[in-house]
Amino acid sequence: MSDAHPDNQPDANAKVPRHVAIIMDGNGRWAERRHMPRFAGHKAGVDAVRRVVEVAGKRGIEVLTLFAFSSENWRRPKKEVGLLMDLFMVALEREVRRLNKNNVRLRIIGNIAGFSEKLQKRIHKAQQLTAGNTGLVLVVAANYGGRWDITQAARQLARRVEAGEIRADDIDAEMMDSCMCLHDLPEPDLFIRSGGEMRISNFLLWQLAYCEMYFTDILWPDFNEGVIDDALESFSRRQRRFGRTGQQVEQGGKAGGAEGDDDA
Ligand code: IPE
Ligand code: IPE
Ligand code: MG
Repeated sequence: MSDAHPDNQPDANAKVPRHVAIIMDGNGRWAERRHMPRFAGHKAGVDAVRRVVEVAGKRGIEVLTLFAFSSENWRRPKKEVGLLMDLFMVALEREVRRLNKNNVRLRIIGNIAGFSEKLQKRIHKAQQLTAGNTGLVLVVAANYGGRWDITQAARQLARRVEAGEIRADDIDAEMMDSCMCLHDLPEPDLFIRSGGEMRISNFLLWQLAYCEMYFTDILWPDFNEGVIDDALESFSRRQRRFGRTGQQVEQGGKAGGAEGDDDA
């Protein structure tokens, strides 16, 4: 595995995840159950984001990645997509000041070029404002798709081959990884999906290779400190083996490194 970012190698024995990635699902159903328009659920979802960011900081999580809008969500009714974009604009303006005050560094991942000029500008401004912060890294995945991420990485490498900088045979997983979103951050340790569905929905396909999965029926607007703590507790009880045996893991060590001191 990669030696390029040794500090970003997952620690098989860590009890607290360094990086938590969440699919925030269930806003629409939350609203429908209350006989409210779906948009009311999205609005309530922003409050849940605020709560979760706060808890993540308190629990010593280093990176929190939230799936806000997928590359497939454009398929929704025009009106819902429009309202989501408006909400994104407002939240960026309103929440960023608070994030900055709390020393949070904001990063947006995804195909930003798919958004309006105005929204793109606001995204850049928000990232710039918080770039120097040293606390929690909050990654928001917007117009993001795992397949898009892998495809754009492949395209970057193909360009380097075309330019004669590398040969096709030089390409390995480490080089691919260096072109993917989040390559400079610890890889996700814990994945949480609210809303009851048990699927990845084109989220971080590459990066979740060895992530621990946690699913809850709680709808996103109801997500709170207790749910995060249940997920963290579940994580702390798991043994992450990364292909090794349980015994090897008990003897300690990181995900990468030398293999096979064998008494098999
Ligand atoms: C997640 O909630 C938010 C987005 C995808 C933007 P949903 O809107 O998918 O809520 P449900 O799944 O319909 O309840
Ligand atoms: C995944 O939720 C995307 C986000 C939460 C942003 P969806 O609600 O879009 O997922 P599917 O369509 O049910 O798989
Ligand atoms: Mg959904």
